[in-house]
Amino acid sequence: MTLLEVSELRLAFGGLVAIDGLSFSVGEAEIVSVIGPNGAGKTSAFNCVTGFYRPTGGTIAFDGQSLLGKRPSAVAAAGISRTFQNLRLFGELSVLDNVRAGSHLRLKQSVFDALLHTPRYRRTERACTAEANHWLDFVGLRGDRYSEARNLPYGEQRRVEIARALAREPRLLLLDEPAAGLNHAEKTEMLDLIRRIRDLGIAIVLIEHDMGLVMQVSERIVVLNFGKEIADGRPEEVRRDPAVIEAYLGSDTHA
Ligand SMILES: Nc1ncnc2c1ncn2[C@@H]1O[C@H](COP(=O)(O)OP(=O)(O)OP(=O)(O)O)[C@@H](O)[C@H]1O
Ligand SMILES: [Mg+2]
Repeated sequence: MTLLEVSELRLAFGGLVAIDGLSFSVGEAEIVSVIGPNGAGKTSAFNCVTGFYRPTGGTIAFDGQSLLGKRPSAVAAAGISRTFQNLRLFGELSVLDNVRAGSHLRLKQSVFDALLHTPRYRRTERACTAEANHWLDFVGLRGDRYSEARNLPYGEQRRVEIARALAREPRLLLLDEPAAGLNHAEKTEMLDLIRRIRDLGIAIVLIEHDMGLVMQVSERIVVLNFGKEIADGRPEEVRRDPAVIEAYLGSDTHA
């Protein structure tokens, strides 16, 4: 069954056309990668799906419902979580509180409960902490959960961001360059983590420049170049596609 359906997506910033007709779909628990050179429009596509940017044209549907015009919070509530190319953790909050913030968005609590510390409030707080610890275990966080997020090494901060996205219990997770800045061993762990997330039944759209990782983990790959979709297929098809090779190597390298 199709979970996400992006059709003829178009996005312009004034005269600059960042996305020029992008169509792809993602099935339940499927891993689809979106690749392409710098500035191809990959992050912009995530921003359109998650309601950060308003597309100039096309349609986006999730589970049969249009996402057009929905705010980021409504998209998240519908079941789509994301991570950011440039980490967006609350640096001065503890690691645990960063992930708790993910669950808090979902659990029902009133201001009244919070002010009076009602039993319901204490129950929800305990549930949030338990969930946050569960997801930090799941992503394999090694560092101290009570220290400020900004004090963790970069690779660990990436895990925290994924844990926070998972705490929202999404059906679809959008990962924007999760392996950027990671060393070889950390990349191998990221590959394993992506597969374990999918094994939970969560679909994944992955933006990634590391071709080894993309080729190993993806069921399907969509290739963007200057905002245009130049390929969509299985890894072995895309790898051999002349238009893709051209986009990556550039015509001047043949001169
Ligand atoms: N808010 C914005 N205002 C104006 N132009 C933008 C904006 N966001 C993105 N762009 C432009 O849209 C194009 C696509 O950018 P985008 O960030 O989507 O590329 P990308 O494929 O994610 O690249 P990278 O691999 O470098 O992250 C670029 O030309 C970029 O400068
Ligand atoms: Mg980007």
